[in-house]
Order: sequence, then structure tokens, then C-alpha cells
Amino acid sequence: MAQADWTVHNADGWRRVIVTKGLPGTRWLDLLTGAGCRVEVSQSARVLGREELAVRIGERCDAVIGQLTEDWDAGLFDVLAAAAGRIYANYAVGYDNVDVDAATERGIAVANTPGVLTETTAEMAVALTFAVARRIVEADRYVREGRFESWLPTLFIGQRLCRRTVGVIGAGRIGSAYARMMVEGHKMDLVYYDIFRNEHLEQAVAAYSELLVARGEDPVSCRRADTVEEVLATADVVSLHTVLDDTTTHLIDAARLAMMKDNAMLVNTSRGPIIDEAALVDHCREHPHFLAGIDVFEHEPSLTPGIRDLDNIVVTPHIASASQWTRRGMATLAALNIIAVLHGLPVWRDDDVLPFLSDDPPDAAPSVVNATELGLD
Ligand code: DGY
Repeated sequence: MAQADWTVHNADGWRRVIVTKGLPGTRWLDLLTGAGCRVEVSQSARVLGREELAVRIGERCDAVIGQLTEDWDAGLFDVLAAAAGRIYANYAVGYDNVDVDAATERGIAVANTPGVLTETTAEMAVALTFAVARRIVEADRYVREGRFESWLPTLFIGQRLCRRTVGVIGAGRIGSAYARMMVEGHKMDLVYYDIFRNEHLEQAVAAYSELLVARGEDPVSCRRADTVEEVLATADVVSLHTVLDDTTTHLIDAARLAMMKDNAMLVNTSRGPIIDEAALVDHCREHPHFLAGIDVFEHEPSLTPGIRDLDNIVVTPHIASASQWTRRGMATLAALNIIAVLHGLPVWRDDDVLPFLSDDPPDAAPSVVNATELGLD
């Protein structure tokens, strides 16, 4: 296999940082080189294998910015620890590709990039919802294929979303941003499942409902369901926003799909293995009015057989966070996480990380997931 090309910036820097993919913008690089780091950036679009990563880490590597496509397991953290590595910064908010316990055991900080993906990812979930509800992809193909001959009363009839029920599984930052976009944009009722109650979300829906009533319109409702099943059985649209772990792998399986309405819509912008894709394919075949919009895949980047042939599944290539602002923001947070850890700065404890995107970022690490375990507070 061809070795990746690497570009080296600030070759004489006092700390060595490896970046396993080129990142958008230049601010992240300016920050790292400005802090005196030597930065080596892979120019390859290919996923780097663990051997290749281990060779690149070599004998001395202080920090790594890595990707969700890489498996950062105990073996790689052994290599990083032996190279005196202090921090692994995942260029993502999700870090199911990282063995955090193994990193912690070796004294290595694990950082992520929350807060700058929230609206961008929620907007993509909204886009997928509408893409399936209004059959945008099928209709686009129909026009391009020259099949549009006349307006017809029955052409591409889709589903209306206004005043229906949206279900959210996982009501954290992204899930609640999606819920509010759907409720406040389309006057939908909300049913959500999360192990924690989201009072902020409930208050926001209540306030919006009061506004509607004050205008003489019908209210909207918000209910926290006791179970995932309750959401699936009730909602017209269900959007998944959980983390991926042992408890959420195949959370949506054949049995749970069968609980959903025959014409329900299922949206996934979180992680692919949350849906049992073989079961989804069977379900979509048997229920032609069931719709799915998925940005992430169980065997990413491969498609489970059957998906390609089904018009009632819309697919996108894991791009939910792909806005320029967000991807640059993620790079900035990754760089600042590294600089802070290498300088022994404390970890930011506020949920709002936007101050880090300003010209004068706080003297702190924006988000280190094992900060408490490592005593970095
Ligand atoms: C993440 O950050 O976890 C996304 O999946 C990539 O944008």
C-alpha cells in the first residue's frame, strides 16, 4: 500500500504534532505553529491504518489530531505513550472510535469538538427529514432523466410535516436543536426519549406553545417518553441522536422498526450501527411508504446490500457537520485542546465553547473527555 504524503510545518518546533488528515481553514495550523509546534499533516484522503499511524508516531510525538475513521485502541495508545504523547484530539464530537479507558490508563488526554456541530448537524437531520418527506431525491432524478412531461395532480405526492409528531431519541445538544427546529418551524408535537430529562427543551417548547396560543393558534405539546418504544410507536418522524455504545448498537432493530407507523420517517445523523441495516432494508422493502434518511452507515463506508435499490431510503456520506464554519471550528477546537494540554492549562467547564472561536480564546482546553480521571481540572 502506498504510504501517505505528509506536509511539515514549522519544522523546528519544540513539540511534534501529527494530524492524520488535512483540515479546513488555516487558523488551527496558525495556532499550533504559533504555539511553537512542528505540525505534520497527512495529505492522503485514504484512512490510515494502525501500522502506518504507529510508524508515523515514531519515537517522539507529543500530540495527535485524529479522525473518527481511525480505531484508536490500546495498541495505538501504547505507541503514543511510548513516544511521550500527552493528548489525542479526535476531530469529531463523537469518540466511539477511541478507547478512552486505555488512553486514561496511559495518562493520555482524549479531546473532542462539541458545541460547534450542534446546529449544522441538526440542520442536516432536518434536510434529510424533508428529503424523504417530499421525495426530493427521487424527484430530482426524474427531472434529470427527462421524464417530467407535465404537472400532474398525483406527481410525487409526499408527506406534510406541519402539526404532526416528531420523535427524538437522545435529547442532548444536537437532538434538542433538531427538536426545536421541527417544533418551532413546523408546529409539530414533540415526544422524546433520553435517560436525562431535558428541562431546557421542555421549557422552550412550552414557551413556543404559549406564543402560538397567544396568536390564537392551537398549542404544541412536549412529552418525555418512558421508553424508546413509546417514541417509535407515537411519532411520525423519528430522529436518532444518541451516542454509539453497547447499549445503543442495533437500538433500531427489526422488532422496533415493526413498532413504527407504516409511513413513518426515520432519520439517522448519529452513528450507523445504531440501526440494524439489514433489518431496515427488509422493513423498507415490506413497507414501501416507510421512509429513511441516513447520513451514517453500519459498515461505513460500505452500503448494506439492498439500500442502493430502495427509493424510500435517502443516503448521504456522513456529512452532517459539513459546513465551512463548523469544520473550521472543529479544527480550531482540536488545536486549542492540544495547546492547552501541552501547556498544562485547565479544562473549560462551560458547555458554551464558542469563546474559543474568538480572536482571543480562553486559556483553557475546550473539551477533554477524561479530564476528571486525569486530574486536569
Ligand atoms: C462527529 O463529530 O461525531 C461527526 O460524526 C462528524 O462530524
